[in-house]
This record gives sequence, C-alpha cells and structure tokens, in this order.
Amino acid sequence: MDAKHLGDDLSAVLHTEEELRNRLAELAREIEADYPDEPPLLVGVLKGAVMVMADLARELNFHAQMDWMAVSSYGAGTKSSGVVKILKDLDADIAGRDVLIVEDIIDSGLTLAWLKENLEIRGAKSVRICTMLRKPEALKVEVDVAYVGFDIPVEFVVGYGLDYAENYRNLRDVAILAPHVYS
Ligand code: XMP
Ligand code: MG
Repeated sequence: MDAKHLGDDLSAVLHTEEELRNRLAELAREIEADYPDEPPLLVGVLKGAVMVMADLARELNFHAQMDWMAVSSYGAGTKSSGVVKILKDLDADIAGRDVLIVEDIIDSGLTLAWLKENLEIRGAKSVRICTMLRKPEALKVEVDVAYVGFDIPVEFVVGYGLDYAENYRNLRDVAILAPHVYS
C-alpha cells in the first residue's frame, strides 16, 4: 500500500521504500564481506521482520537460509519489559552455527538483548543483529547491533512490517503514525 491511501493517518514519511531498499543493499554488501566462509542462518522475528527479511535475503549473494521466531514481551501496554515468552521457536538447531538476527526495530533493546543471549546459550557460534530501524534515544540496555539501517527519533512508526493494532504492516514506506490514530 502507498502512503497516499492512508489519508491523514500518517504525520510524516520517514523513509521511503526506495531508501529502505538502497540501505539494505549497502548492509548486504557488509554482511557478505563479514561472512566470507559460511553464510549465517538468518533468524527473523515475527511478524514485524517479514519485510526486512524478504528484501535482505534477496539482496544477499549467498545462500540465505531463513528461520523464524515469534516472541511476546510482557509489559504494560506498548512498553516492553524485557521478560520475553517464546510463542514460536526456531526449527533449526543452531549449535555451532553463525546466526544473524533480522529485526524491524530496536526500541528499548530489551527484547533483542534477551533474544541474543537466548541464542548464545543454545551454543550458536556467533550471534549478530541486523535491524532496519533503531531509536537510539529509547535504549534502556546496551545491545551490540552489528548492522543498522536507520536511526530514527522516538516516535511511533508504522509500515514496512511495523504495525499499529495489526494494521499498516503492508505500507511500503516507514512513516510516523499521527497521534490522533491512537489517542
Ligand atoms: P524493545 O523495546 O524490546 O521492543 O526494543 C522492540 C519491539 O517493540 C515494538 N515497537 C514498535 N512497533 N512501531 C511499531 O510498530 C514502533 O515505533 C515501535 N517501537 C517498538 C516492535 O514490535 C519491536 O519488535
Ligand atoms: Mg508490533
């Protein structure tokens, strides 16, 4: 869906589909260079990472195996607490493998910090994170993120996989949701 079909739901488009794709191509070149011997297993976090995964995987010029996890973080409303429940686990055994977590957005960092540690405990050879978006000013814990698409301000954003109440995921761009939609 294009932003023009959303009327006044969006207060601004932050990154267009084209900007997102171009940035992912740059990240893909870095990733290829960083894994010269064995491609990493890409682990996407459902549902938000679906679009990033689809575009990143096709951009990578090596065999990009994909696996998926679904997690929910317990917390008040939209704030994550760092207590995470696995709703869908990996199919693959990751012991001894290089893993690259593919995420849509890092906000407080609590979910990703937990997930990275969880995958390390399973014996992964390495665990790195690639995220399309990051809100540096919202970080509550330090998370080592190897690949970042764009740093964005602390605003609620939708599109390119990101939802509000399960809508807007299929918006092509990343946009700031107008406050009147959720208040
Ligand atoms: P933490 O805070 O643990 O949480 O880094 C990351 C998860 O929170 C959701 N999230 C958002 N979802 N627009 C969204 O649609 C946003 O601006 C936003 N900020 C955080 C998202 O599910 C992410 O995986
Ligand atoms: Mg969400």
